[in-house]
Amino acid sequence: MAQDVIIACDFSSGRETLEFLDRFEGRKPFVKIGMELFYAEGPEIVRQIKQRGHKIFLDLKLHDIPNTVRKAMRVLSRLDVDMTNVHAAGTVEMMQAALEGLTREDGTRPLLIAVTQLTSTSEERMQKELLINAGMEETIAQYADNTRRAGLDGVVCSPLEAALVKGRCGRQFMAITPGIRFADAQKDDQVRITTPQRAREIGSDFIVVGRPITAAADPVAAYARCVREFLNE
Ligand code: C5P
Repeated sequence: MAQDVIIACDFSSGRETLEFLDRFEGRKPFVKIGMELFYAEGPEIVRQIKQRGHKIFLDLKLHDIPNTVRKAMRVLSRLDVDMTNVHAAGTVEMMQAALEGLTREDGTRPLLIAVTQLTSTSEERMQKELLINAGMEETIAQYADNTRRAGLDGVVCSPLEAALVKGRCGRQFMAITPGIRFADAQKDDQVRITTPQRAREIGSDFIVVGRPITAAADPVAAYARCVREFLNE
């Protein structure tokens, strides 16, 4: 799949989300639906957004025993999303089960990616609370490698880690990167951030952009700017 800009639709209701998407009359953005919206509205909101012609990244971050994840992914495979995810911490066996569950009878499936370490987890907490003694970069590289070995398509990581991931897992292995801000904008609560243009240069395949678009005075213009900078169009 080609590179693209994904809008994180972090809204709490379907109505708000659809009203937001109504503004986009030209190019239909690739949309990320997270837990908040999915738990509020259920699978119907996925069908509605899909019907309007958007590609969908269903960001539910599954993490459970392999059998449960396989069966949950089988259900999700019927929703016809374009991308979904799991936690790499669930082990290679769990990720393989996810891939099996997600693959439809005709062999087709959405892209499947894994979360390595959440960007909200600091190296200190990872080491003190989770007793992972390696450093953050080494942990991310190892989780990315586990993801590749399980046969998944890529990982979610900070744009600044995309080069590390590609170096370890190869250029074809995808880096999906949140933490994007325009050069002249505020950071909000994000720490390890970069611009759409720099994310492209480092090697991101997909950038996930929330507030710089959803909270902009003109979201359509902000999206167009993201596309222009990231895709160099
Ligand atoms: O508003 P903002 O651009 O910060 O939104 C980024 C989106 O990416 C949010 O939906 C956030 O939950 C998600 N995300 C992230 N960092 C990660 C994984 C996901 O910011 N490591």
